[in-house]
Amino acid sequence: MERYIVKGGIPLVGSVEISGAKNAALGIIAAAILTEDAVTIDNLPDVNDIHVLLNAIEDLGVVVKRINAHSVIINASTISKLRTDYDPIKKIRGSYYLLGALLGRFHKAEVYLPGGCNIGSRPIDQHIKGFKALGANVGIEGGFITACAESLQGGHIYFDVASVGATINLMLAAVLAEGRTIIENAAKEPHIVDVANFLNSMGANIKGAGTDVIRINGVERLHKTEYTVIPDQIEAGTFMFAAAATQGDITVKNVIPKHLEAASSKLTEIGCRVKEFDDSVRVYCQGKLRSTKIKTLPYPGFPTDMQPQIAVTLALSSGISIVTETLFENRFKYVDELIRMGANMKVEGNSVIIEGVQRLSGGIISSPDLRAGAALVIAALAADGISVVEDVKYIQRGYERFDEKLKSLGAQIERVSSDRDLQKARFLLNAV
Ligand code: EPZ
Repeated sequence: MERYIVKGGIPLVGSVEISGAKNAALGIIAAAILTEDAVTIDNLPDVNDIHVLLNAIEDLGVVVKRINAHSVIINASTISKLRTDYDPIKKIRGSYYLLGALLGRFHKAEVYLPGGCNIGSRPIDQHIKGFKALGANVGIEGGFITACAESLQGGHIYFDVASVGATINLMLAAVLAEGRTIIENAAKEPHIVDVANFLNSMGANIKGAGTDVIRINGVERLHKTEYTVIPDQIEAGTFMFAAAATQGDITVKNVIPKHLEAASSKLTEIGCRVKEFDDSVRVYCQGKLRSTKIKTLPYPGFPTDMQPQIAVTLALSSGISIVTETLFENRFKYVDELIRMGANMKVEGNSVIIEGVQRLSGGIISSPDLRAGAALVIAALAADGISVVEDVKYIQRGYERFDEKLKSLGAQIERVSSDRDLQKARFLLNAV
């Protein structure tokens, strides 16, 4: 089991290049199989979830040419299977996009029920509602979602919740359908817009992505394209909060500042200095941070995927903060780990009440999921002494070279995979 060993108490200083957006790239890779032409995708993040999805489409018979760690050419003219048998795909949430893409192009699909971070029940009823509105028959049997249709007709769907996955999945299924599809109460995240832009670059006719009403006019076919994935707003925000929690000075580069506004405004509110440039944002903090109240909301509200990161930062602020999670019912599993490091926090319903403390002390902590894992690394970086962060495989699902990027900012962090390496690293870090 890989672990990080961290010597905390060092302010992080410097600049870091942000990778491509995982949650846009997953939808874009699935969308690439909607055409028989070759599709080039650049700025893919080099993370496990992307590797799993690329391997899964190869298992369907798609040709994937890996140009380098961030670029691929996908050619789906040779798809030979419409059923995902590639076991690792069960572990990631993005597998559900294969349903929309295979249904959209072949009118048939059998895809494992999606996996992903254990942060709540994560139903897919809205995805199914959308596919049925296009005329598909959808069922669940033996751990698979099956969908099929004689033909797909445009439909009018009003989502009960603004679901990122269901919005992208419906775009994938509707771009080649006959007639017009209207999606109301659509999710508005930047990655929705990126997938829509990618599809339009292939000849799709999608309008309104980024608003809560998306209109899709079905087209005959899609064609080749070359596309660059947008930067990852959640990775950028994670480093921004790492600057705040360690009283550091970090510039995140290759970002779209507008996508970071919710984080930037909260960081300013708690006492950090935030400066925006064309494609970078600088966060620097000197002195005690102030408490605040936070409620996670769909974009452009404060992102649920940055909820653990701001909670860790507030654990070291002065006063009482309240963080309320409105999207997922089980996204506070990191709280017990932080309490072991000396945080004063208490979960009450869908909120965590945080009383800031002077310091956190290092300890052995375990990553319960992707974003909580990254937040616990931030806690270890801010804490005094040595910490060991376990189960970093969750972190590696969504953060490219996380330990190396942190090291480039001055962090004392090592990735170890054996007890022997752990002892050696502990000795070296103690010696520093
Ligand atoms: C996507 O998950 C992201 N994952 C999540 O990021 C992110 O937290 C989430 O969107 C919200 O932004 C990927 O893009 C792969 P939703 P998704 O459908 O699509 C309810 C990360 O850290 N809902 O927008 O599963 C659902 O229960 C991950 O990168 C239904 O009720 O999220 C939740 O309360 C973690 N029925 C709300 O909608 C449905 O059919 C938002 O979920 C679908 C969702």
